[in-house]
Amino acid sequence: MAGQTHQSDSKLLGRRTLAQDHRCLLPLLRPGLSVLDVGCGSGAITSGIANAVGPNGSVVGIDKDFGLLEVGRQDHAGISNLQLHQGDILSMSYVEQFDIVTAARTLQWLSASQLAITRMRQAAKRSGLLVVLDYNHSQNHWDPDPPVAFQTFYQAFLAWRESNGWDNNMADHLPQLFEAAGLVEIETVVQDEIASRDSGSFADQIELWPRVVDTISEQLIGCGFLNKAQLQLAKDSFVAWAQTELKTQVLAMKTVVGRVP
Ligand SMILES: C[S@@+](CC[C@H](N)C(=O)[O-])C[C@H]1O[C@@H](n2cnc3c(N)ncnc32)[C@H](O)[C@@H]1O
Repeated sequence: MAGQTHQSDSKLLGRRTLAQDHRCLLPLLRPGLSVLDVGCGSGAITSGIANAVGPNGSVVGIDKDFGLLEVGRQDHAGISNLQLHQGDILSMSYVEQFDIVTAARTLQWLSASQLAITRMRQAAKRSGLLVVLDYNHSQNHWDPDPPVAFQTFYQAFLAWRESNGWDNNMADHLPQLFEAAGLVEIETVVQDEIASRDSGSFADQIELWPRVVDTISEQLIGCGFLNKAQLQLAKDSFVAWAQTELKTQVLAMKTVVGRVP
């Protein structure tokens, strides 16, 4: 199973905002700061960071996905203090360059998460901050329980992730990774993403899983976890059920903040 990668959906990423989708970072930003956003995707959150640090601040977003970066360069062409570069978190070579180094929903896709945190720490200045937001996929839950076909898909999703060495409790393991990298003043904030029928963004939020099914179908089939018919049924049954019966979807997430001594 080695060598599997994941490609994110540009429509899902493009909807995200700093205020809504990386809430703990926002109050830490102020004009003039330099920020590195690792795994920036198409730069939706990164552009919000650039606006928050203002013209005297500077923001670099890096991502390994050239296609997403191209979308980001077009979408945010007018933001002069924002640069989007292709790069891999595991081999980036920034040294003591940024006031804040952040990653949102990125480490979930890496098996070498300790190396990633070490590289992020190296990129931050002394007394700089690391701010990492991620999922605990094994703790996501729905009320009521989703259709059996979706549950089968979800178990396969977790098993496929595990077989790739991707942590299904990434958020819970961040504090120990921060500690091992020598960070101090480590704090954790629960930041679950909760979709309920009365929330304005319900329709957008429940679109996540059908899109995830689409983006990983080929890999789940190729690795023998599920077949095409099972995936189609998982998707169709989830969509119908979410539109009629789903009351609440909880995506278990946490933000962990630590300081370079
Ligand atoms: C789920 S997206 C999150 C995008 C954005 N941070 C957000 O919260 O919407 C994860 C991103 O991490 C990127 N990524 C995954 N592994 C990476 C790596 N080793 N180095 C750089 N980027 C990586 C993916 O290409 C993808 O754009």
